[in-house]
Amino acid sequence: MNGPKRRSCLELIKPYEPGKPVEEVERELGLTDVLKLASNENPLGPSPAALEALKEQLERLHYYPDGNCYYLKKALAEKYRVTFEELIIGNGTDELLTLLTLAYINPGDEAVMVHPTFSEYEFALRLMGGIPRRIPLVGDEFSYDFAALAAAVNERTRLVFICSPNNPTGTIISREQLEEFMASLPSNVLVVLDHAYIEYVTDRSHPDGLDYIQQKRPLLVLRTFSKIYGLAGLRIGYALAPAPVIADLNRVREPFNVNTLAQVAAAAALEDRAHLARSLALVEKSRQQLAAGFKQMGLKAVPTGANFFFVDVKTDSRRLFQALLRRGIIIRSGDIFGYPTHIRVTCGTEEQNERFLNALAAEI
Ligand SMILES: Cc1ncc(COP(=O)(O)O)c(C=O)c1O
Repeated sequence: MNGPKRRSCLELIKPYEPGKPVEEVERELGLTDVLKLASNENPLGPSPAALEALKEQLERLHYYPDGNCYYLKKALAEKYRVTFEELIIGNGTDELLTLLTLAYINPGDEAVMVHPTFSEYEFALRLMGGIPRRIPLVGDEFSYDFAALAAAVNERTRLVFICSPNNPTGTIISREQLEEFMASLPSNVLVVLDHAYIEYVTDRSHPDGLDYIQQKRPLLVLRTFSKIYGLAGLRIGYALAPAPVIADLNRVREPFNVNTLAQVAAAAALEDRAHLARSLALVEKSRQQLAAGFKQMGLKAVPTGANFFFVDVKTDSRRLFQALLRRGIIIRSGDIFGYPTHIRVTCGTEEQNERFLNALAAEI
């Protein structure tokens, strides 16, 4: 068939390859207890308060959602002491990344980011014909090289993506590094600080992008309800930025981009401090358990500020992925990030970690 000619920038985009549903993997393997440690979800699940709030909304689903996310924005504005005009809610932070490139990227414009990092930055950029400038993370700890990032900025640069903690490595940056870097940038470059995993960071030198929003710097902070809040299935995230940036994103946003269930669950989850504290405590213990396990096997794990580890397993990670899958454990193999002997694994409960570590020891 001679279908429509696709836009040329699509030639550089590979369709996202989704994994099989857990139920399908279980059916194929004849297992009942497949363990997914592949997407950095919260093993405790959603907050019970969010589940309660959802039940109350089910009878109201014939109404369109609130296109302004009023109650959630009110809760966020109070929590962070920002105005409604400095907030936007998205259908996951993934959507906000697309809104950013819709608003700011013309074909040939550039964005600077590290490598490896979260793949959606490049996807959103390519979609608009933008060009990624990838700066490798350096050393055993996969650290940010801010001098190299600054050197990659030129007159075509519109955005700089800083992911801290960085997915897939878990690397964090310091306040000092970020401030020095921002001071070196021209004022027409927007820094996008992705804090999807910030709730797991315990290092006090880590920056909180909110401080700079309050100072009206050209910075946008991304946060999500998919990770510590345990609401990945509902798709909801938000961004904080100076009002003119949020106004630009609202120009390209669909009117009802965030569904009703996501809005009410997120507002309830935000208030559930006990669930947040339990989730953080679990990950702190989990990080210790996994780090000790890797050390015992002589494997080098990158120091992490998040709820996952990036580990050099010193073997073909694709093969290891398949071997672990046969044992009913799903992880991410590093070849998709360009690291064929690394894996990324999500911090689980004590029991889940033990099962994973035993399987890993048997298969490497
Ligand atoms: C660094 C980073 N940013 C953003 C996201 C996307 O989050 P959301 O589920 O809100 O689209 C993820 C999800 O894996 C992530 O790892």
